Amino acid sequence: MTYIKDLLKHKGQTVELKGWCAQKRDSKGLVFMTFRDGTGFCQAVISLDVVGEASFDAAKRLPQESSLVIAGKVIRDEKQIGGFEIQVAQLQVLAEAGDYPITPKEHGVDFLMDNRHLWLRSRRQWAIMRVRNRIIFAIHEFFQGKGFVQMDAPIFTGNACEGTSTLFETDYYGEPAYLSQSGQLYGEAMAMAQGLIYTFGPTFRAEKSKTRRHLSEFWMIEPEMAFYDLKMDMDLIEDFVRFVVSKVLDEMKEELKALERDTTYLEKVREPFIRMKYEDAVSVIKGEKEVNGKTSLQMLAHEEAALKNQRAQLETDIAEREKKIASGELKKGEVNFNQARIDKLKNEIKDLDEKLQNIPQWQNSARNFKRGDDFGGSDETVLTKMFGQPVMVYNWPQEVKAFYMKEDETDKGYAKGVDLLAPEGYGEVVGGGERETDIERLKNKIEEHQLPMSAFEWYLDLRKFGNVPHSGFGLGLERLVAWICGLQHIRETIPFPRSYGRLLP
Ligand code: 4AD
Ligand code: MG
Repeated sequence: MTYIKDLLKHKGQTVELKGWCAQKRDSKGLVFMTFRDGTGFCQAVISLDVVGEASFDAAKRLPQESSLVIAGKVIRDEKQIGGFEIQVAQLQVLAEAGDYPITPKEHGVDFLMDNRHLWLRSRRQWAIMRVRNRIIFAIHEFFQGKGFVQMDAPIFTGNACEGTSTLFETDYYGEPAYLSQSGQLYGEAMAMAQGLIYTFGPTFRAEKSKTRRHLSEFWMIEPEMAFYDLKMDMDLIEDFVRFVVSKVLDEMKEELKALERDTTYLEKVREPFIRMKYEDAVSVIKGEKEVNGKTSLQMLAHEEAALKNQRAQLETDIAEREKKIASGELKKGEVNFNQARIDKLKNEIKDLDEKLQNIPQWQNSARNFKRGDDFGGSDETVLTKMFGQPVMVYNWPQEVKAFYMKEDETDKGYAKGVDLLAPEGYGEVVGGGERETDIERLKNKIEEHQLPMSAFEWYLDLRKFGNVPHSGFGLGLERLVAWICGLQHIRETIPFPRSYGRLLP
């Protein structure tokens, strides 16, 4: 048995492939099948003259997602899906599929989510899961290469880490326990034992709203480093994100192509990231400070004009195709082709309209942002749109950050926290900072945040025994996957997403 991923090594040879029929069309004595085997996609051509009537009829009747074995000659053809065509000499059906619910036509998202267990087979979802896998591998490569020790933090926890409003409570032998919001506090304990550590595990947040950036269950990578200050922390975030994104850019070209990902902005990770204090970032958002000769409000006006222009072009394209179809001069295949293009263009218009609808909201949040507030999604979008590359915002007002953040001694009232914001509207992908080491201040903050002191006694011990400066951060895996793959919504980044209102499949 050969895998599609290895076809290059078998150019001109006859191979046997085992897989599924992803899509199919036929014309006079030929069946063109998009064949997939898990490792990739290729075109299989089944010719009546070669395989004979029985096999040909079987192929022609074969429903989408039936499983089969094919044998045939490997032809390199850059124009075909996956870059190869198999000239099928033999074919054996393993299991004929029933009526497959996901057809090549466009489906609504809710329908696709209900069929997530099948949707995973589509080429786009296949590509996303491959990129996710490569990202996970790159994350381990990066930290293991630097001598970090991976640790597993508990999932059942007795205390909140990131505020009490998003806790999932469970029953733990009659006591309340919470699903972990973050492994950080345990990571801090382990950093005092191992120096450099990272956690990589599931985390849970009860986010009672549907947004394109929030899941109830997501995977977080949280390194924690003894003797690191905020500056070292930011350097590590930058090196880390650059390493992971570069790995995907360099090694996942086929997948990015399948996703039609424009990688212009992603390539910018190879340049130094923008670093700015919260107060300066606010000035940029509010339009008080220009970037490259433009204020935020001017930038948004330009964007609106560009989107409207794009929309008008799509409308023209659709009108032309509709006219051609109406003329009655097209062959059946050409009508189908144009109709499919029209459906796709209409979806593109829907996407543009969504973007256009956002602009007034962005303009409002830019104008009305209150200095001292946390950033919302719109504020992050506006800020990163100004630079078109990753932006690290540091020194945040203490009130908007978690209890464990260290106050900057030279910048009173500000916490030595940092958020990394991804461009193209993806927003916060990393949150981190330097940890408070002063035990009295920590106790005060725990009280201010109305957290139960008793649950934090063990954490305070870390400040009593060999207290050292230390820092860390948390990267949301799914936010990173969404950004790298260029996805509209975080729900496609994880095999079986858990979000408000969704527990099945
Ligand atoms: O900014 P957050 O809340 O920071 C922490 O949890 C710290 N304890 C991390 C640390 O310093 N060790 O979350 C970190 C990241 C965010 O930047 C975001 O990428 C992701 O986790 N994240 C979510 N991803 C998906 N769905 C959600 N509901 C998320 N909430 C946070
Ligand atoms: Mg955060």
